[in-house]
Amino acid sequence: MCGIIGYIGKNNAAPILIEGLKRLEYRGYDSAGISVIDKNGNVKTIKKIGKIENLEKSINGQMVIGGLCGIAHTRWATHGIVNELNAHPHFDCQKNIFLVHNGIIENYSDLKEKLIKEGHKFISQTDTEVVAHLIEKFFEGNLENAVAKALKNIKGAYGLAVISKKDPNKIVIAKKSSPLLVGLGENEFIIASDASAILAYTKQIIHLNDGEIAVIGNDKINFTNLDQEIISKKSEIFNEDFNNADKGKYQHFMLKEIFEQPKTLRNSVIGRLIKKEGWAKLGGLEIIENKLREIDRLIIVGCGSAYLAGLVGEYMLEEYVGLPTEVEFASEFRYRKPIFGENTALLCISQSGETADTLAAVEEAKRKGILTLGIVNSVGSSIARKTDAGVYNHVGPEIGVASTKAFTSQLEILVLLTLFLGRQRQMSLVMGQRIIKELERLPIWVEKILRQAPKIKKLAKKYYKSKDFFFLGRKYNYPIAMEGALKLKEISYIHAEGYGAGEMKHGPIAMIDKNFITFGIAPIDSVYEKMLSNLEEIKARNGKILVIATEGDKKIQKITKDVISIPKTLEMLTPILSVVPLQLFAYYCAVFNKHDVDKPRNLAKSVTVE
Ligand code: AGP
Repeated sequence: MCGIIGYIGKNNAAPILIEGLKRLEYRGYDSAGISVIDKNGNVKTIKKIGKIENLEKSINGQMVIGGLCGIAHTRWATHGIVNELNAHPHFDCQKNIFLVHNGIIENYSDLKEKLIKEGHKFISQTDTEVVAHLIEKFFEGNLENAVAKALKNIKGAYGLAVISKKDPNKIVIAKKSSPLLVGLGENEFIIASDASAILAYTKQIIHLNDGEIAVIGNDKINFTNLDQEIISKKSEIFNEDFNNADKGKYQHFMLKEIFEQPKTLRNSVIGRLIKKEGWAKLGGLEIIENKLREIDRLIIVGCGSAYLAGLVGEYMLEEYVGLPTEVEFASEFRYRKPIFGENTALLCISQSGETADTLAAVEEAKRKGILTLGIVNSVGSSIARKTDAGVYNHVGPEIGVASTKAFTSQLEILVLLTLFLGRQRQMSLVMGQRIIKELERLPIWVEKILRQAPKIKKLAKKYYKSKDFFFLGRKYNYPIAMEGALKLKEISYIHAEGYGAGEMKHGPIAMIDKNFITFGIAPIDSVYEKMLSNLEEIKARNGKILVIATEGDKKIQKITKDVISIPKTLEMLTPILSVVPLQLFAYYCAVFNKHDVDKPRNLAKSVTVE
């Protein structure tokens, strides 16, 4: 998604803006740009397609002597092709107003038509440029007044940072649905769409909420609503540790994050396992503990891997809590007419806490008075602040676009939620303690699996040129089959479908031949025999098969020699183990296919537009 950086203070803005853009690179982008106002009120704007280095090279000192106030942007194209004209910052006819935007202006074509009739000349294909001309229309010398008036005409989502040549000593920012925050430095302010770009300068931050405007300049910051009524806001200290956001000895962030999982699985449960009570202590849920006793239906929403984690949670919550649970794509849920009971609750799962569809699903549920919970990794993110209560993953920033450590942490937090709710209801002390005992062993089991990385790399070398894959699983591992397929698709660009293995005979098995590869997930569990039969049916049709199996399983060897073993554990916990080899398999296939593993084509780390 697009990244926003702004700076106003005692130092040259350009180098700080470029450094900030680099910290947002992991979110995915296709072009970048910067505008700086110098002391004489001249605005210098440079925009480049491709990597931020292209922008940095073209600046080469032109703007170091520049001003102390500027804005910058990384663009992930929504409206308009990838070119310099469509890159941000955008400006008005008089080149007085310069702005960067994250989000979508839904009524931009009506606004553009009206503005063209009023004589405005547009040079880009973007929705964003409309905002610059709208502000120009209302500009009478005071920037914030013009911005406030313009925003009243806009429908859609925005995180905006605006500067003006004619009102030069300030930056005006505004937010609706797209994240925006301000870092408070020593006589300087840093604005960003993501805290990671601010923390090198300060940990004292203020989040903007929807419908708020901030005017920053002359060593002060004032907040108003869209009617320009003053509002007061408190700063907070951001405690997340971002300085581990470097690759260390690994070639890619994704590989580092896969190998971090023994540690992150421990971090996600630190202080949360109460062995003597067979219970999970979830501080973020304690304020609604009694309400949670009453819920009689849970709707889980998420996107991508977060949605698939929710599907695993559905099996756990129904089997161990007896709670009717359904899982929905957030992008579907927000447009349905869901029927809520008074004791229905919504649980949203999101690593970034900024996914537009998931955020909209939460807003829809809150509009209907439904209790909303979150499982979120990014502290202080929009979803974390919007939900009534929630649980943080505490796995640190996940930089690779493909979710790995956040995904296994989401599964683990769902186990904690199962313990929390289960022990409020039908789950026995013994069962709770059994689950905790197995949870505590997971990091060791994952370390054991990771030691098979060389073997998994060999399998990837054998299959990375294949064009088609089925990933098959049943029950708890059906969602993991889909997650394995998603990982392979999103970083290796290989066609892959995840299926419930029982579905193969209802059509998909027609696809099987010697070129169609099947990756089966067949641990020794309640559906093991069924999985074996499904794999036999594929073998009988010359399908090539790889399998994830339980250590010591001899039967599986009769089906294929390409076996990756995982240790035996509770069936509900096998997904946390079975997904790890699939992460590595997808990673190595991507490397052999020479793809940009951490920033796959067309993808962004946080999809903040719908
Ligand atoms: C997963 O590997 C993908 N990067 C993507 O599907 C991701 O899970 C999805 O966009 C949801 O993101 P979130 O968890 O930040 O809401």
